[in-house]
Amino acid sequence: MIMQLTQKERMLLQDQLSHEQACITKYGSYAQQTQDPQLRQLFIQHQQHEQQHYNTISQFLQGKLPTMAPGGQSQPQPSPPLVNAVRVPADQTNDFMCHDLLMTEKYVSNTYDTAIFECAHPQLRQALQHIQKEEQQHGEDIFNYMQQHGMYNPQ
Ligand SMILES: [Fe+2]
Ligand SMILES: [Fe+2]
Repeated sequence: MIMQLTQKERMLLQDQLSHEQACITKYGSYAQQTQDPQLRQLFIQHQQHEQQHYNTISQFLQGKLPTMAPGGQSQPQPSPPLVNAVRVPADQTNDFMCHDLLMTEKYVSNTYDTAIFECAHPQLRQALQHIQKEEQQHGEDIFNYMQQHGMYNPQ
């Protein structure tokens, strides 16, 4: 099935695509830097989700309707080549990476919110809602890790 996106949908999806690319890069780079296997595992898992998000959005941008499994998960797609990892000094701590990722997820979730309100196609709206839920889950995972490790203590 071919979808004709509105100009606004296209513009917003292009933004989301670049946000997903940034998330893929960050999680990949931070997974290499952390010394904590638990955190590395979390980063790798999130990176895989971001890759799925990237693939889903990229399919919509090509006018295709991504195939959704019963659970609403998109089917695995061939991965586009990863861009080079951002350079971060080696002495940056888990604390810095977690704060940065929490801020990133919060921002990305907000931008999905904006995009969802501009969707003319129900299938697109549904897919973006699904992705947004996963971004909020990423935020929750990082939040929980930070709490467990004394990095974040809301009063
Ligand atoms: Fe994502
Ligand atoms: Fe995310």
